[in-house]
Amino acid sequence: MTLTRRKTLAILGGGFIVAAGAATGTFLTTRTPSTALAPWDAAGAFEDPRLFALSYALLAPNPHNRQPWLVELDTPDGFLLHRDVKRDLPHTDPHQRQIFVGLGCFLELMAVAATLKNRTAEVDLFPDGTDGPVARVRLAAGGGVDRLANQILARRTCKEPFENRPVPQESLAQLRQYGTAITDTAEVARIRKLTWDAWLTETNTHRTLKESVDLMRFGKSEINANPDGIDLGGPFLESLMLAGILTRENQLDPESAGFQEGIKIYQEMLAATPAYMVLTTPQNSRQDQIEAGRRWLRLNLETTRLGLSLHPVSQALQEFKEMEPYYQQAHQLLAKPGETVQMLGRLGYGPTVPPSPRWPLETRIMNG
Ligand SMILES: Cc1cc2nc3c(=O)[nH]c(=O)nc-3n(C[C@H](O)[C@H](O)[C@H](O)COP(=O)(O)O)c2cc1C
Repeated sequence: MTLTRRKTLAILGGGFIVAAGAATGTFLTTRTPSTALAPWDAAGAFEDPRLFALSYALLAPNPHNRQPWLVELDTPDGFLLHRDVKRDLPHTDPHQRQIFVGLGCFLELMAVAATLKNRTAEVDLFPDGTDGPVARVRLAAGGGVDRLANQILARRTCKEPFENRPVPQESLAQLRQYGTAITDTAEVARIRKLTWDAWLTETNTHRTLKESVDLMRFGKSEINANPDGIDLGGPFLESLMLAGILTRENQLDPESAGFQEGIKIYQEMLAATPAYMVLTTPQNSRQDQIEAGRRWLRLNLETTRLGLSLHPVSQALQEFKEMEPYYQQAHQLLAKPGETVQMLGRLGYGPTVPPSPRWPLETRIMNG
């Protein structure tokens, strides 16, 4: 995979690097973290309908790719979904709102995949209250194949600049079943500024920046060993690591020249956005958060079907003190009084991007 300077910086979740000329050579052609990507190939290779559906579910989008799911297989046709509390993001997601949205994405992807085995997922949320398991699931026989099921393996989060071309009205009409599509030039400009201001706030707040930097996986071996978090891989990034230009330490130093340079490039990426999608809920219960995740997942499968790219930009929705003015602004701009904005995402035409790492299914099953 050849990474451009822009692409390199765009995939960094929080910190930045000085981009240098890419090195070449044999080393650089063998940097694909195959172990970390193996779950994409293994998806569906299970006879047991529960394992079949779960092997796809773990490909769901989720904040910082923490993969906060744990499964307890408890009946021949069912399982309990638990939240892995070790995978919380205490600084950027202090109330675990985003984590539960991610668990909603997991449940919906599981339900969509189950239809490929002629099963319908019956999902009972929080059977013992919100401090207990997230859901009890039973895969009942019957039901047709979900019309979005064949988009599962092509779905991505696209953390790249989007083309300067509008999203067609026919596509927007499809997407409006999931949330609000924003294309008005003045509104788009206001949201662009908001996402940028909020991103800078997360980056300039040491503890929230550090939360991301601590989750960075530097190069193939680290990514394969911990296939989650923010993966910094591929030949170009690894050449920068070898040269000592990309290190955990300089990712934590917003004053460094490289970091400053990277900020400009990230700003350009956020600016290259022709439209946004917004998902709100009337209240902000755990059930609402799960429901928003289920809707986001279907939206992401639908954008995949339509050849569109989607990219959550969650900073303004984060609930830490320094972010409060932007959280308020986001709610004034994007929600009715009392509603909660659960997801804000860039929408447009982006490049094709590779899949992101995942922990294999067996590591996510508590009693496998
Ligand atoms: C609730 C939620 C919030 C997210 N927020 C962001 C974000 O602010 N910035 C970003 O680049 N990606 C965000 N993502 C996308 C994840 O980083 C992405 O899903 C994860 O890295 C896995 O990659 P994939 O979706 O391509 O499989 C978010 C995803 C979810 C579900």
